[in-house]
Amino acid sequence: MASNPIILITGANTGLGLETVKDLLRSPKAYTILLGGRSLNKANTAAKEVQAEFPRSLSVVKAIQVDLED
Ligand SMILES: NC(=O)c1ccc[n+]([C@@H]2O[C@H](COP(=O)([O-])OP(=O)(O)OC[C@H]3O[C@@H](n4cnc5c(N)ncnc54)[C@H](OP(=O)(O)O)[C@@H]3O)[C@@H](O)[C@H]2O)c1
Repeated sequence: MASNPIILITGANTGLGLETVKDLLRSPKAYTILLGGRSLNKANTAAKEVQAEFPRSLSVVKAIQVDLED
């Protein structure tokens, strides 16, 4: 069985990163979207809120902790 493409977006708990997550959720294609944030709490909150905003989306959002300077 083919799996969905996995897309990692860093700095995705706010701003342009979060808007990019929303655009992917609007897509008729199904993705696994890794919503990256420096704070896992902020990433988790953003992932839950954005998934709830697009309940009919075929894509799944998962929060991960990632700091590009680490
Ligand atoms: N070229 C252009 O025309 C143009 C236009 C607009 C924006 N930009 C640039 O695009 C970028 C994003 O803009 P934005 O408006 O979305 O900014 P923003 O709302 O401030 O969001 C920045 C995001 O990056 C995250 N971040 C910061 N340092 C990080 C690191 N070391 N590792 C991982 N994530 C990190 C922040 O996380 P925290 O929440 O943890 O701080 C936040 O989620 C900025 O660099 C901005 O200058 C360019």
